[in-house]
Amino acid sequence: MVTIKTADEIVRMRRGGKILADVLASVAGLVAPGVSAAFLNAEAEKMIAARGAESLFLGYKPEGALSAYPAALCVSVNDEVVHGIPGKDKIMHEGDIVGLDCGLRYEKMCVDSAITVGVGEVSAQAKKLIAVTRDALTEGLRVVGPNARIGDIGHAVEQYVKKNGFTVVRDLAGHGVGYSIHEEPMILNFGKKGTGMQLAPGMTIAIEPMVVAGDFHIIIDDDGWGIRTADAALAAHFEHTVVVTKEGCEILTTHEASRH
Ligand code: MF3
Ligand code: CO
Repeated sequence: MVTIKTADEIVRMRRGGKILADVLASVAGLVAPGVSAAFLNAEAEKMIAARGAESLFLGYKPEGALSAYPAALCVSVNDEVVHGIPGKDKIMHEGDIVGLDCGLRYEKMCVDSAITVGVGEVSAQAKKLIAVTRDALTEGLRVVGPNARIGDIGHAVEQYVKKNGFTVVRDLAGHGVGYSIHEEPMILNFGKKGTGMQLAPGMTIAIEPMVVAGDFHIIIDDDGWGIRTADAALAAHFEHTVVVTKEGCEILTTHEASRH
């Protein structure tokens, strides 16, 4: 069921979203050669607790999963697309690109967001992949509004990515979010204009393009969580939780007032 959040629920999601934006920005600031993913996760866990929030990812066990997710942060390096477990042995190296994905519950409401950053100097291709993925999210956000359908979002994301020579991952998607981490509707990163459910003010959704430099096929790690490209090509991921407004949408997982 797709739910419409009340004004008060949106206020709480906005507060949680700001905390999450702070957490991700702080963790991104710690990314450097020699740093471990476990360290980044430990810092994220501390920051979430210090702000009176709760991790959404730690202990998360979707139906059919072999094990609960063991951390508050996903750290996905290079060919890892999403859900990389932040192990002690996962060390950042100059030139790597690192996806940082985090979710938290604050005042009973859930928010979810992700960014991808480079470690030191990265290749021109890696830089472009990060920029195109970030801007593909913006392109998706630009079409969100009460007159839009879900297919419009996927269409905007996919067209932008294609135009720039990259490919969207097809087996993973964005989602509704708010009372829990994953709610209806599913928000694919590809689609046809004018198809799918009509959006309405008060819907809260997480839009999350996952973009690869090679083929869209993915494989799952032996740990049951980490997802990487089958051809080992680079992958990037950006995600925002947004609320549909009368005029368009507002990004909730940001420091700034952000209306589109
Ligand atoms: N942002 C991720 C998603 O929407 C959440 C991953 S949950 C985790 O799929 F537990 F795997 F981290
Ligand atoms: Co998500």
